[in-house]
Amino acid sequence: MWRELAPIGRHAGTGGYRRFAWTGADADCRNWFQEQAEARGLTYEVDRNGNQWAWLGDHSAGDAVVTGSHLDSVPDGGAFDGPLGVVSSFAALDELRRRGAQFTRPFAITNFGDEEGARFGLACVGSRLASGRLSKEQAFELRDGDGIRLPQAMEEAGYDPAAIGPDPERLARIGAFVELHVEQGRALDLSGDAVGIASAIWPHGRWRFDFAGEANHAGTTRLVDRRDPMLTYAETVLAARREAELAGAVATFGKISVEPNGVNAIPSLVRGWLDSRAADQATLDTVVAAVQRAAKERADRDGVDLRVVRESFTPVVEFEHALRDEINKILGGAVPVLGTGAGHDAGILSATVPTAMLFVRNPTGVSHSPAESAAEDDCVAGVIALADVLEGLACS
Ligand code: GLV
Ligand code: MN
Ligand code: MN
Repeated sequence: MWRELAPIGRHAGTGGYRRFAWTGADADCRNWFQEQAEARGLTYEVDRNGNQWAWLGDHSAGDAVVTGSHLDSVPDGGAFDGPLGVVSSFAALDELRRRGAQFTRPFAITNFGDEEGARFGLACVGSRLASGRLSKEQAFELRDGDGIRLPQAMEEAGYDPAAIGPDPERLARIGAFVELHVEQGRALDLSGDAVGIASAIWPHGRWRFDFAGEANHAGTTRLVDRRDPMLTYAETVLAARREAELAGAVATFGKISVEPNGVNAIPSLVRGWLDSRAADQATLDTVVAAVQRAAKERADRDGVDLRVVRESFTPVVEFEHALRDEINKILGGAVPVLGTGAGHDAGILSATVPTAMLFVRNPTGVSHSPAESAAEDDCVAGVIALADVLEGLACS
């Protein structure tokens, strides 16, 4: 499976993955998923929001056990964030068949669409739509960097955007959803464990800061006459770091766009996207409010107009204790339970469906980078743990 996935959407220069929603690379990943499903005799279907499902047993019976993750990536992402969960799901099914396990509940493997939000700016679009956390109207307003709207991109990829929207009947058929994911930190490396269980996901969100100034000549405009939004942006980046440090949170400006984007022109507009996360809501609110205050103060000094738009938000997720405890028991009771600052479809679904996550050790902790890694032995341990969990939940 890894050999087939490895070249899809991989950039020759960086070695990172560029598998963005509804692009050719995304289509190749989707075709791969369908092939894996059909090769195993599973019933393949795509839901109204473009999420893929591979079913074993009667998918309308209810109380299904579902596992899976996503195949899309951030810009120049690693090989494992997402695909490890999908590959491990198919491998765990192979392992259960090898064991001769008999399924007593319907079972499915999923690939949720557009988890990273790399193209349209909003993460977990597939699971948000399914669970009603994103409306069709809101989804239709999403645009990529070239101004292409989500429904157009979806249509060009051969899917019907008119059908998107909440899918409560489908989610009601799920009795438990388990997502396996590469760890995006070093907790398991430090504890010496190959596999862990998720406790919670930090509340997190994305805020777009528009700093509007005045374009002018870089050589002839006196410093005192400038309205330079780059200065306001720079001060805001430093404020984000300062406030996050003070609060024990994280805050990142990882994406910026500049107009007119000329070396010898003072910018007319700088757009920066703040990603901020914290262990609790109050801390996150404090950090974001403080960054906005600092941005506004500096904007006033620079003669710059500031507009801040919250583009997405996910409240804290505490995974269901009963399912988490059951999984820990199935795995022998001594599996570390850890929280994470990373977002996941499992977090979105947890408001509607009993949900749990398994993490696989990442020896460096690096993620959202081509350097992301996981050892083969640990990936195998993840597959065995997932197979054990699925056997415990879904088999006799
Ligand atoms: C997804 O990986 C996120 O946490 O941004
Ligand atoms: Mn990710
Ligand atoms: Mn992921």
